[in-house]
Amino acid sequence: MKRSASSKNWLRRHVNDPYVQRSRKEGYRARSAYKLIEIDDRDRILKPGALVVDLGAAPGGWAQVVVKRVGATGRVVAIDLLDMAPVDGAQVIQGDFSAASGLAAVVAALGGQRVDVVLSDMAPNLSGIAISDQARVMALAELARDFAVGQLKPAGVFLVKVFQGEGYDEFLRSLRAAFGKVVVRKPDASRGESAELYLLARDPR
Ligand SMILES: C[S@@+](CC[C@H](N)C(=O)[O-])C[C@H]1O[C@@H](n2cnc3c(N)ncnc32)[C@H](O)[C@@H]1O
Repeated sequence: MKRSASSKNWLRRHVNDPYVQRSRKEGYRARSAYKLIEIDDRDRILKPGALVVDLGAAPGGWAQVVVKRVGATGRVVAIDLLDMAPVDGAQVIQGDFSAASGLAAVVAALGGQRVDVVLSDMAPNLSGIAISDQARVMALAELARDFAVGQLKPAGVFLVKVFQGEGYDEFLRSLRAAFGKVVVRKPDASRGESAELYLLARDPR
């Protein structure tokens, strides 16, 4: 099958991407691991012994980072729509977090414990129709926010991926209302041309 010029360009860029090369060398399943590493090196959100929920976890790059950083006394509950190879030290649920059953499975896995950190790197399959893609991204971020507000400890941390565009300002305002401190992060590993940003919120009100 002949590849289109744009898919050839993507492949060339992917193969030459320093984060892709580094992830192969260092054993991470996805280059996205370096986004979390960079944010955590700066903001120190993953502490030994922490209980962490990883929403939208496949293929497992973030979960690999979290397991290492929370150590043997920590706990990681991860969920994704997709089947994901096990990550040693993480409890992986295959399910739809936007469905009642997915949410219930995560809550059940927590066994009544409050959470130290909620991470959401959830992103829908993009349709290419910008307005509906953006609405779906923001809807996932809102679900993650509501879960975080309900489940975090008083000093808890919420990290969520969003895209700049329709609904972004309103979402940021809602986070500022729900948390004591909110900062915006654009890690180097997040491709410059992508509208992707991470919002880091602490101290749920
Ligand atoms: C960018 S990837 C996450 C990458 C991951 N952080 C890593 O480092 O390997 C986004 C993930 O969100 C998942 N996702 C999207 N919608 C979801 C939903 N409703 N419930 C659970 N997972 C979802 C997708 O299946 C996809 O695997």
